[in-house]
Amino acid sequence: MNKEKIYILAIESSCDDTSAAVLYNSKKLSNVVASQKIHEAYGGIVPELASRAHQQNIVPVVDRALTMANIDKNQLSAIAFTRGPGLLGSLLVGTSFAKSLSLGLNIPLIEVNHMQAHILAHFIDEENMDKPEFPFLAMTISGGHTQLVLVHDYLRMEILGQTLDDAVGEAFDKSAKILGMPYPGGPLVDSHARKGDPLAFKFPKPKVKGLDFSFSGLKTSILYFVQKQTAANPNFVDENLDDLCASIQYTIVNILMDKLKATVKQTGIRRVAIGGGVAANSGIRNALAEAERELGWKAYIPKFEYCTDNAAMIGIVGYYKFKNEDYSDYNIAATARYEIG
Ligand code: KG4
Ligand code: ZN
Repeated sequence: MNKEKIYILAIESSCDDTSAAVLYNSKKLSNVVASQKIHEAYGGIVPELASRAHQQNIVPVVDRALTMANIDKNQLSAIAFTRGPGLLGSLLVGTSFAKSLSLGLNIPLIEVNHMQAHILAHFIDEENMDKPEFPFLAMTISGGHTQLVLVHDYLRMEILGQTLDDAVGEAFDKSAKILGMPYPGGPLVDSHARKGDPLAFKFPKPKVKGLDFSFSGLKTSILYFVQKQTAANPNFVDENLDDLCASIQYTIVNILMDKLKATVKQTGIRRVAIGGGVAANSGIRNALAEAERELGWKAYIPKFEYCTDNAAMIGIVGYYKFKNEDYSDYNIAATARYEIG
């Protein structure tokens, strides 16, 4: 098998985005994402609707990824797919599809851990984008995950801390919901926060030992605070929306940065890579820029396309596993829980 010219077709279906990508070695040729709008009406992801939408989307998305890459399926070296973690019904769609295609084409099947993929997204070739040197720290922050990982090598990673309850994206989205914003509210909180005073309202930071996170208490304290204020003044939220968003964002970013600083202190590693949808947040980006200036860190933030769920990041893991001939057999099953390492 040709190990110089590797073409990987990657499939991602762990949550509410159906995605397919084609990589030529570590270069992205295509990365197609079909986002499911249907969940907006429900204020959050409905698992059953997500798996049905994946079933509808997967064939056209894969077809489009191959067409955009200008690659025939017979040129493919392997099929990589997200095995977990994620919603089981959603994962099953991508897993079954990947298995059948690999069997039909008689090429290797490669299972990928979605969290590992968020981290290796930094290694997709992009002009003017530095790739982190090993070892480095990775913080994955999204609607489904909040993890601090020590990355020793492409496929050797160690979880140092993670959320004990809600993910940080959920903290943004649930706070936004309390303020009457539609789902997903994270980007809206961010845009209001840019116009507000981060010190206008003070919310408590959780006391969690070690490098783990907790966000459920914050959500509750925001809810009680807003209920109390609204009882006194029904227009409280409208009149203070920018300040509320700025204060909430400030608290969340501080929680993340406190743990990140503790991790840097504990490991002595100052190379910090972030990923996941919340990496788009202006507050965390500013905080990292400040840490670069004042603490001598080097921060790595991938292109937004590679921050949110996408198949190109699955493909890059597939590429490194392919080089190691780390293939999966057809008994492999999707798994909702799947720890790194
Ligand atoms: O990675 P992603 O697309 O999907 C997964 O959850 O895996 O992340 C989506 C999450 C949502 O919670 C969304 O509100 C949040 O990322 N998000 C943001 C911003 N952009 C996206 N949160 C805060 N500020 C943003 N600018
Ligand atoms: Zn994700």
